[in-house]
Parts: sequence; structure tokens; C-alpha cells
Amino acid sequence: MINEKSIDFKPLNKILELFSNISSSDLIPILQEIQLEYGYLPQPVIQEMNRKTGIPLNRIFGVATFYEQFHLEPHGRHTIRCCRGTACHVKGGSDVINAVKRHLGIEPGETTKDMRYTFETVACLGTCFLAPVMMVNNDYYGRLTVHKIKNIIDEYA
Ligand code: FES
Repeated sequence: MINEKSIDFKPLNKILELFSNISSSDLIPILQEIQLEYGYLPQPVIQEMNRKTGIPLNRIFGVATFYEQFHLEPHGRHTIRCCRGTACHVKGGSDVINAVKRHLGIEPGETTKDMRYTFETVACLGTCFLAPVMMVNNDYYGRLTVHKIKNIIDEYA
């Protein structure tokens, strides 16, 4: 995990060099690059970015908190989202959620110690016809059964 007290700004500087005449419209691509580099958006990096670009902190945090793709806390390389909605629940969604918990050894909202996976549950993934459903990053997995979970997750190891 990153020690925020001794954070290295060199990667940030390299990212900022990729953009000329930085304005607020560059905010999303810059934040995406920062997250790719650091794994999330560390506070000291955001403050340094504010100092270097003049983009107001409230603007940066506004965007960082609005879009689900951005994380202000350390986040695993892969995000697993299991649906806990009604359609998934009646088709065995809670068994799927329990299988993910068992396989990763973490609860929803947690990240594995090796920073490989973050596990979340969501109210609906919008593909109820595929119930029960989970997503790994941007990939959908539907009509899940408990015994498929290990292989799916291990594909991302
Ligand atoms: S309830 Fe699970 S995808 Fe909609």
C-alpha cells in the first residue's frame, strides 16, 4: 500500500507533462491517468495537482466523487461487483455473494491484502435477465452458479 507521507510526485509530473495548457476539461483524463499510476487518487497527489494546475480542489473532488470509476481510497486492481437486487436474489444471488466472500476472504466493501481485488455489492447491475449477475471490472457474468465463481475470479489473478 502507498505511504501517503512519502508519496512520489514524479509520476504525477510526467502525467501533467502529457497535457498542455491544462484546463478543467482535462480533469477526467488526468484523474484517469493518476488512478492508473497510483491505483487510486491519493490526497497529497490531488493537492499537488491543484497547486500545479490551478484547478480548484472543490472541482477536482467534485469530479472524483461524482464518477464511480474514481477511488479516493486504496482500491484493488480488479473490482468485483455482485448484484444483491431482487431478481438476482431469487435466483441464488446470495449464494453467489457468499461464494465470492469465501473465495476472497473479505466482506463487501473490502479489498484483499494483496490489493488485487475489491469486492462490492450493488442494488442492480441492469441485466436482471441474466440473474444472478456479477461484474469483474467491465465484464458481465450472468446465470452464475456457485461453482463458477472460483474460475471466473482466478482468471483475473
Ligand atoms: S437485480 Fe440483479 S441485475 Fe438487476
